[in-house]
Amino acid sequence: MFWTVYTIISILILLISFIYLFFKNKYSYFEDQGIPHIKPKFPLGNLQGIGSKFHLSDITRQVYEKFKHEAKIVGFYNFVQPIYLVTDIETVKVITVKDFNNFVNRGFFVNEENEPLSGHLFALEDDRWRFLRNKLSPVFTSGKLKLMFHTISKLGDKFITKVEEKSKISSFDLKDAASRYTVDIISTVAFGMESNTLNYEHQELIDVFSEFNGPPDSRKMFTFFFMMAFPKLAKALKLRQFSKKVSDFFTNVVGGNIKYREDNDDNRSDFLNMLIQLKNKGSIDGEISTESKKLTLNEVLAQAILFFLAGSDTSSSAICFTLTELAFNQDVQDKLRLEIMEKIKNTNWELTYENLHEMNYLNQIINETLRMYTQGVMVLRKAKEDFQVPDSNIVIKKGSSVWIPTLAFHFDDRFWENPTKFDPERFTQEEIAKRPSFCYFPFGEGPRNCIGMRFGLVNAKFGVASIIKNFKVTPDARMKHPIVMNPKVPHLEPKDGFWLNFEKI
Ligand code: HEM
Repeated sequence: MFWTVYTIISILILLISFIYLFFKNKYSYFEDQGIPHIKPKFPLGNLQGIGSKFHLSDITRQVYEKFKHEAKIVGFYNFVQPIYLVTDIETVKVITVKDFNNFVNRGFFVNEENEPLSGHLFALEDDRWRFLRNKLSPVFTSGKLKLMFHTISKLGDKFITKVEEKSKISSFDLKDAASRYTVDIISTVAFGMESNTLNYEHQELIDVFSEFNGPPDSRKMFTFFFMMAFPKLAKALKLRQFSKKVSDFFTNVVGGNIKYREDNDDNRSDFLNMLIQLKNKGSIDGEISTESKKLTLNEVLAQAILFFLAGSDTSSSAICFTLTELAFNQDVQDKLRLEIMEKIKNTNWELTYENLHEMNYLNQIINETLRMYTQGVMVLRKAKEDFQVPDSNIVIKKGSSVWIPTLAFHFDDRFWENPTKFDPERFTQEEIAKRPSFCYFPFGEGPRNCIGMRFGLVNAKFGVASIIKNFKVTPDARMKHPIVMNPKVPHLEPKDGFWLNFEKI
């Protein structure tokens, strides 16, 4: 008996000592290299309070602000994973552009053997990424987007009708209608599925979308950071980017539509059609391709799901945050309405692809929204080799992750006067010329930036312009300003929704 108790106590002491030494060793990483950092705490490192009290962007911004005058790069612990957090614009340029080849990867969790749909452009690495980026770039040219504009415009009319119906009853949270609008756009162009979720059809699509994007759940947040910090363990545990339900749904719907189109020779001008061409011929009609290799069916499915997930929430959030700021800034809203009316008077009061691009003030407004509320709160990169940061004694070690905290740069008073103020005048050509480059990057930077930027901007601009053309937007009493963000999700989302009033003009 004595020996059993003695053995258990000894094992416990050994185990605790091992855990203590393991964490002590891990948490001395930046100390040993003389890189400034905030002392990490067991077991989350510097993620204390994430998902409950703080959003990731608040936590990284605190560290950034504390050290931005003394170092180009500071240390940050994601659990025990050491992260190099960038605080200097020259270093942003070096990592995303000048030395891109050393930072081509994001270090995002991918496990194609166990989960083929995880092999999408956002997660893939090195030559697999280069191959796909080359193949997919022609999908997003402005000529191709112009062909898809009629879908955006047709669905925009339904969006306005829905907003009008709802506003007759009371004020409402715009996010649901805006999400359905962008889900309908992307499902039409990326899957060939006319989902009509705005009119409450195909609820299963909204269900899978919600499963991925919400409802807020801090467990999902932890899994996400865990997969980034421990990719090998995550692979061994067969963790997945998408649940089985989400994967099965997309495989069936998109796979079915591909088969239907192939069997019926159905050639529409949309993303899915171009993906099918890449699968069957290795190139898109009218585009020259230096690489003849074709895409596999799984590769096509993975990209379609990525377009859907990367494209719908980002665009609908841009619409909602912009309209909320316009509700609180009536002078800006009035000025925008005047611009819209002026630009559409010669096109029978219709918004067109061309006149949307002539609306400079609208462009300034969307840019300012994306400064304050970009969905890509962090640009992620991973070092392939040891990298000496120019003009410093810092070496980023091979295999380490680098985080560029977008919102910290977007609110840095070294570049923006009164950064918490919504002020579209910051984006006139004169003001842009006064600022240094690489302090504003809502779509990321360099060759690995957002491939869907143009498409996202057209969606957001069309959504905002069609609402402002038709309604005066004011805030409901429930709408808090400054907007309080939900700490439980990795992107930006208000804690209590976008409560707005819409008065028909
Ligand atoms: C307002 C809308 C959008 C915002 C703010 C946004 C933001 C971003 C950001 C910050 C990145 C990471 C860039 C980097 O690491 O340098 C990214 C990547 C990406 N985005 Fe977007 N995005 C938007 C819309 C879209 C749309 C509409 C699509 C597709 C239909 C899309 C597809 C992608 C893809 C595929 C990547 C990965 C690119 C690669 O790794 O090569 N995005 N986006």
